[in-house]
Amino acid sequence: MVTNWNKDEVKKVLVINGSPNRNRSNTLVVTKAFLKGLNEDNKLDIEIVNASDLNVKPCLGCLSCWGRTAGECVIRNDDILPLKEKILTADIIIASYPLYFFSMPGVMKLITDRLLSMMATYEGQKAPENGQSFHGFRYYNEKQRFIIISSCAYTEAKAAYQSLLLQHDAICGKSNYTAILVPQMKTLLDLHNENKISRYLNKFTLAGQLFRQQGFLSLEELENLSKPPFTEGAYKIFLNNFWESEKNKGK
Ligand SMILES: Cc1cc2nc3c(=O)[nH]c(=O)nc-3n(C[C@H](O)[C@H](O)[C@H](O)COP(=O)(O)O)c2cc1C
Repeated sequence: MVTNWNKDEVKKVLVINGSPNRNRSNTLVVTKAFLKGLNEDNKLDIEIVNASDLNVKPCLGCLSCWGRTAGECVIRNDDILPLKEKILTADIIIASYPLYFFSMPGVMKLITDRLLSMMATYEGQKAPENGQSFHGFRYYNEKQRFIIISSCAYTEAKAAYQSLLLQHDAICGKSNYTAILVPQMKTLLDLHNENKISRYLNKFTLAGQLFRQQGFLSLEELENLSKPPFTEGAYKIFLNNFWESEKNKGK
């Protein structure tokens, strides 16, 4: 039960779209369905930033942001500083991206590394939930929410996302983020069955409404969102047909 949530205080939503497919991202289709529910009263200021359009230099590993300065990165001539401002002023931050090799796409890792300056220095502190070593956030705001919305090709979201979830449990703390994990998404959209798509996406719109109301989604709700749209057998046939037709395009 989350007590520090007042849906009427929520004003700004920042979406970081980490798909290299930018506005053609399949994941973004789910994210937009979720946003529709989140913003049913049309009062939210929603900004979508395409990570692939940002100029982001890799972290230099100098640790200046932890030592010599209080959270300031020495690289000042790229887009990380404005992105940090957007993150700090958003009430809800949504990272929307596909699963790449059971992790986040490279552009998101590049951004994540550069956000080291937003983490507290490690001085032996432990996460309250599991006693593991834990940085915690430099600018922790208990009213802010962080949501990951990710889609993947596999059927079993639980297994495919195991490493990404462990990574985020360690970065954010186990219950400090919400992960909406969506299998088989590209195939669902590729088949253009508009009725099936709209019924499927409606689940995410309802989840967006619920999240706005209560500031979290239960494990049961999250599991329901991760149910694949197709049976394993049907999906196998769709995939075979898809790769056959791709091969034929090359002929
Ligand atoms: C480089 C690369 C790596 C991928 N790795 C995985 C993976 O590890 N597991 C998986 O289920 N799907 C994987 N996929 C499939 C994508 O996650 C999936 O097609 C996703 O829905 C694409 O989302 P987007 O349209 O938003 O980019 C990978 C795709 C690419 C291009």
